[in-house]
Amino acid sequence: MNIDYSEKIPNNVELASNRTLQRALEHWQPEFQHWWADMGPEGTSTADVYLRTAISVEPKGWAHFDHVKMRDYRWGIFLAPAEAGRRVNFGAHKGEPAWQEVPGEYRSNLRRLIVTQGDTEPASVEQQRHLGLTCPSLYDLRNLFQVNVEEGRHLWAMVYLLQAYFGRDGREEAEALLERRSGDADDPRILGAFNEKTPDWLAFFMFTFFTDRDGKYQLCSLAESGFDSLARTCRFMLTEEAHHMFVGESGVGRIIQRTCEAMVQHKVDDAAKIRALGLIDLPTIQRYLNFHFSVTMDLFGADVSSNAATFYSTGLKGRFDETRIGDDHLLTGATYPVLEVRDGRLLTSEAPALNAVNEKLRDDYVKDALAGIERWNKIIEKSGIAFRLKAPHKAFNRKIGPLSAARIDPDGNVMSEGDWTHQHLHWLPSEADRAFVASLMGRVTEPGRFANWIAPPARGINNQPVDFQYVRFN
Ligand SMILES: [Fe+2]
Ligand SMILES: [Fe+2]
Repeated sequence: MNIDYSEKIPNNVELASNRTLQRALEHWQPEFQHWWADMGPEGTSTADVYLRTAISVEPKGWAHFDHVKMRDYRWGIFLAPAEAGRRVNFGAHKGEPAWQEVPGEYRSNLRRLIVTQGDTEPASVEQQRHLGLTCPSLYDLRNLFQVNVEEGRHLWAMVYLLQAYFGRDGREEAEALLERRSGDADDPRILGAFNEKTPDWLAFFMFTFFTDRDGKYQLCSLAESGFDSLARTCRFMLTEEAHHMFVGESGVGRIIQRTCEAMVQHKVDDAAKIRALGLIDLPTIQRYLNFHFSVTMDLFGADVSSNAATFYSTGLKGRFDETRIGDDHLLTGATYPVLEVRDGRLLTSEAPALNAVNEKLRDDYVKDALAGIERWNKIIEKSGIAFRLKAPHKAFNRKIGPLSAARIDPDGNVMSEGDWTHQHLHWLPSEADRAFVASLMGRVTEPGRFANWIAPPARGINNQPVDFQYVRFN
């Protein structure tokens, strides 16, 4: 299924034959462009960037690469192909045909799910807008911009659903998505992690590794939705998300590689000496990892949640890989382990599985993230350095749910407020850590050159050489 680019808004939803929707989207489009000019990547409106654009929604061959100005990027509306005879696969409506319209009784819950997902997309663009000014290479700059335009397109995807299926209140929500601002005191983004700063490139790579991976898990569970358009929209978004996580994993991996090479070459393992070489020491990478991991843990919501139970039992939001799980898909009488602090210790108790779907998604996510951290450890191991990166305990540094009431160290030990105050800077980046990392950030824009603190990638994008002119400044 190819996408028609002769249209003002490229799409595969037959926009041309839906005048009401077309009018709503054409009204929203200039507002989006204003938002992009104001809040999108800073100082780069005239650059030509080697970007990938979706031209088809088929699993193979959907991407086209070319130099384009970001403001001319063909944002559009693309849904994965419809699955003939698709059914609701879980909850009270299991076995019924998937919904082609929004069921009236689930309208406000569905709108809320779509708005919450939609809000994260422009938020991350806002969080990352300054990073182009300190890019470590043209290759990395291009990857940043690719992530940014695709998050912009994800916003389009959610706005399409709001405008196509939710009438006037959907249109109002679509406007509000362009009005909230990441980190704004009066009108912030909805979720905490999306109001944090992404001040430097180590933070950016950690964000795309950890927080975009949360995006993957959220999209996977929405891709199970009984509401077919939501499922199809999210399934196509997932094809783009894979690249965002690649940017994060390979970015952190290249920093680790560079640091390890220098540690071996100069025979140093003292953090101060490594910093003196203009490199990021492994303990600092560990503290960044701890921060981004814990902030992302909170994105999955409360461990035991009646909202999550409702979303599941009404068929709106499923579990990760729902159809591959061999149970009744109703969770009747089933339980799931959740954590609680009792008598100063972290204990496991069994909660109704229906109320613990957030916790299950968090656990599925943790498994995936741990595998990626192990791939980073392989890089360290290969260089013969005795250091291992480690994910903190999932209860560490939580701000949401019952665990947020306790202070818990990275190994899962409950500690006193006083001990936390003394020790937390061993585990989380300090102002000094962030200032040091910031001091390394400078702008490198010569093709094939890389900042001192990061290794070049093994290969370029789309079979282009590493020293390709990924961004042309005009
Ligand atoms: Fe996204
Ligand atoms: Fe993403």
